[in-house]
Amino acid sequence: MAASRTKIVAGNWKMNLDRAGAKALTAAVAVRTAEAAGVELVLCPPNVYADVVGATLAAGGSPAHLTLGAQNMLDKPSGAFTGEVSAAMLKDVGCTYVILGHSERRTLFGETNSIVNSKTKAALAAGLTPIVCVGELLEEREAGRTAAVVTEQIQQSLAGLTPAELERVVVAYEPVWAIGTGKVATPQQAQEVHALIRALLAGLSDAGVASRMRIQYGGSVKPDNAADLARQPDIDGALVGGASLKADDFLGIAAAFRSI
Ligand code: 13P
Repeated sequence: MAASRTKIVAGNWKMNLDRAGAKALTAAVAVRTAEAAGVELVLCPPNVYADVVGATLAAGGSPAHLTLGAQNMLDKPSGAFTGEVSAAMLKDVGCTYVILGHSERRTLFGETNSIVNSKTKAALAAGLTPIVCVGELLEEREAGRTAAVVTEQIQQSLAGLTPAELERVVVAYEPVWAIGTGKVATPQQAQEVHALIRALLAGLSDAGVASRMRIQYGGSVKPDNAADLARQPDIDGALVGGASLKADDFLGIAAAFRSI
């Protein structure tokens, strides 16, 4: 059951920090991973700093459970796509994970479920592990449409994957109203949607695959609310925005998932 899934806490740095800051934060986390022993940690810097973060991890002899991720990519292998990066490029600079379909990509840059689906397939084909984000807007929650919205996002964003491919995916449930607002979902609200997502994943594959997949919660996760979230049976980690920019906070959140 829940205990057999390795917890995963990822820091989505979004468009923050500079080269020196990215290096310093990476080094600060790398020397303290023992505080979150057994938890998989992922750092997702802006793409332009992926190289320096990867090099800093490599130079520090980073333990296997601290890895590099990216925040976005294009679904094409190469070519005339000004301003974009491919899955192979992310692999080339040492990325293991890539966040796809974050709500900021969906709302600010027009990413549809179909685009997220295509990116997910491209990431898997290149050997990256996608962290596929879903989550409802405030007005959708207030209209009682959370389950319908999340169902559509999961079914369309993950359509056409084989069970073996699906099993490699990490899902992040990030209610949009909780992102960067300080308004965290209650553990019960989050658990309810996580359980729904796991049932949907079972529908796309089978119960065994779904029971092995990790589902992160994201949205105003802080060290002081992480433990309550971590106790929920279907919450397998966190996708952390603002609090991932401070080593203390990021590791504090990760430590809350350590002993669950
Ligand atoms: P905050 O933790 O800043 O609310 O951001 C969450 C998020 O969007 C992570 O991807």
